[in-house]
Amino acid sequence: MTFLEEVQRRRTFAIISHPDAGKTTLTEKLLLYGGAIHLAGSVKSRKTAKHAVSDWMEIEKQRGISVTSSVLQFDYDGCRVNILDTPGHQDFSEDTYRTLMAADSAVMLIDVAKGVEAQTKKLFAVSKERGIPIFTFVNKIDHFGRSPFDLMEEIENVLGIRTCPMNWPIGINGEYKGVYDREHETIELFAKDETHGQEKLASEKGALTDPRMKELLGDDVYQALLDDIELLDVAGDPFDFDKVRAGELTPMFFGSAMTNFGVKPFLEKFLELAPSPAPRQAVEEIVQPTSEDFSALVFKIQANMDPNHHDRIVFMRICSGKFEKGMSVLHRQSNKTIRLSQPQQFLATERTIVEDAYPGDIIGVFDPGIFSIGDTVCSPGKKFQYEGIPTFAPEHFARVRLLDSMKRKQFVKGINQIAQEGAIQIFQEIMGGMEEIIVGVVGVLQFDVLKYRLENEYNV
Ligand code: G4P
Repeated sequence: MTFLEEVQRRRTFAIISHPDAGKTTLTEKLLLYGGAIHLAGSVKSRKTAKHAVSDWMEIEKQRGISVTSSVLQFDYDGCRVNILDTPGHQDFSEDTYRTLMAADSAVMLIDVAKGVEAQTKKLFAVSKERGIPIFTFVNKIDHFGRSPFDLMEEIENVLGIRTCPMNWPIGINGEYKGVYDREHETIELFAKDETHGQEKLASEKGALTDPRMKELLGDDVYQALLDDIELLDVAGDPFDFDKVRAGELTPMFFGSAMTNFGVKPFLEKFLELAPSPAPRQAVEEIVQPTSEDFSALVFKIQANMDPNHHDRIVFMRICSGKFEKGMSVLHRQSNKTIRLSQPQQFLATERTIVEDAYPGDIIGVFDPGIFSIGDTVCSPGKKFQYEGIPTFAPEHFARVRLLDSMKRKQFVKGINQIAQEGAIQIFQEIMGGMEEIIVGVVGVLQFDVLKYRLENEYNV
């Protein structure tokens, strides 16, 4: 495959949603259909695991698993798919914003019964600001929810983006049997889910005009579908690729991640419409992903994932050029040349060493202690520098005081490293030293995390 083909087959996206809309479940099902896992984990075991932990322990748990789940990669239909994990906790944190900086598109997941929720609004606003295409997946249509027309209206009124359903659920009052593909005018009816969504769901396809489909649906459901189609064609927005790319129109899909209903049609259409890596604005120029010169943007740093090794992993999104294991790159902010010697990539739950990677891919490398969020690395001799990732104004402040002054060194190190990761911002140092400082955070949960990490990772 040529370099150009490698770039063009990349699809890098993040799923944004309010907690509990089904992001974890959908991600898992995309992996199932992508062949990266063979049996989706049972919902039950997750349920017990989930409610047993308090909110901030949840963050810890997420940190614990997020090295492996930060980016999930699989191949489908010739595409190389990278799903970026966004933190799922209630606290709106900057993490999500940074993750979106590495994405080329976003999938907005909406619970059919709940519609647009608080977190959906915030994350939508951030995606919109990034100017990336936003796709909508209305989830949980296996149980009773709101009418699809009602949801379209809500998305348009509350979020201010036009909608264009690509498919449409077939059935009356939430009793859905399948989806109608508007472009191909075909019906896909799904079998009853017998495996609690652990395995792919069987389906049967046929043309809208196929008498067998009409027979399978029954006269009432069939007629209701025809009425819906007519209404959509007359009153809905037509599909317009340019508007999708500009983030002005969201292609909409319906399904149930839990039962796998509609997951495959969504995945296939999404991969067809979603953009490959886009050009990116650097300080002095616009860098094309197909440029031969390598460049990448640091969007996430995670320290002490393994308590036995105090290592920091830096996640970077490749923006241009081909990455090869062991290559030397220039770290723009320090002007140092470094070798990226143990680059890692993530497939389902495994970490693997990457031999090469292309624009759109995310790699994790060990940090020799020089990286901060928003840094650029590039081919030596090049002067690319991406515009940094903006920080949010903190909304909460706290005074942090070191109790045991013998531990000053660890305290300073801990505070600084956690600040470099972007979890906190350091404001005023009191009395000239670091024994007492003021930190600011965007979400209050970060205070708990800070305290917990200082105690457990830095022993202060
Ligand atoms: P999140 O990552 O967005 O927070 O959501 P997650 O996937 O954990 O899903 C949240 C809950 O919604 C889970 O229930 C999950 O099984 C359920 N869910 C996900 N997709 C669907 C769907 O298509 N249909 C239905 N009916 N449910 C779905 P849970 O944690 O087991 O607990 P509970 O809320 O069912 O009690």
